[in-house]
Amino acid sequence: MRLLKADDYDDLSRKSAELVVEQLRAKPTSLLVLPTGNTPLGLFRQLVGAAKSGEVDLTSARFVTLDEYAGIPRNDRRRLLLWLKRELFDPIGIAASAVHALDPMADPVAEAARIEAIIAEGGGIDLAVVGLGPNGHVAFNEPGSPFDSRTRQIDLTPESIRSNATYWGGEADVPRKGLTLGLGTLRESRTIVLIASGTAKARILTETIEGAISTEVPASLLRLHPDSLIIADHDALSGSANA
Ligand code: PGA
Repeated sequence: MRLLKADDYDDLSRKSAELVVEQLRAKPTSLLVLPTGNTPLGLFRQLVGAAKSGEVDLTSARFVTLDEYAGIPRNDRRRLLLWLKRELFDPIGIAASAVHALDPMADPVAEAARIEAIIAEGGGIDLAVVGLGPNGHVAFNEPGSPFDSRTRQIDLTPESIRSNATYWGGEADVPRKGLTLGLGTLRESRTIVLIASGTAKARILTETIEGAISTEVPASLLRLHPDSLIIADHDALSGSANA
């Protein structure tokens, strides 16, 4: 695992966008997995800018969604796919056929198998970008998720419900179940990049980088991956001896 230090959020957004751009230049048909949350918004703005200026072409890229709430209508305002569409796919003009999205209404076991098959038949994930949950979760892989776990439905922990409440109004607005690519699924990505920003992530980022490699901190899985990178800004690294 490599650590790339960013000065601040803008720098983090630029550096993570550069990686996605490099990946697409090397392989325009890359299979990409991108996160939702507040952290990637700057990355998406950079990518939209790069696409509009002709610096990168995303129209041949393929996408699989990283996670989704389970049991909500497909057009629910909280649907994570719609967040990605609004911030990235629609501004760039990505065709719906290029996006393989976890379906919140489908039978979860069948849906997990469908997405795993799409990834396998698509030649595997080239680049997965993930955020860092305040409890160390990666996608909706909560603490305790096995490192070899596959795509599945999970129960959100109280900590994730609390952090997700900031997106939707309050804790009562947060669905209790999620669908997530598994840690084992993500671990098979050729490259995996975790982005972390702000002092609120400092404690868990320090644990991720310097603590035990443990399923209690799902993000510590990155340290077992041959081509993984953490991009973190100064604030997120403020608790770390590496800062
Ligand atoms: P955030 O969420 O980017 O909104 O901090 C990250 C996460 O919970 O995975």
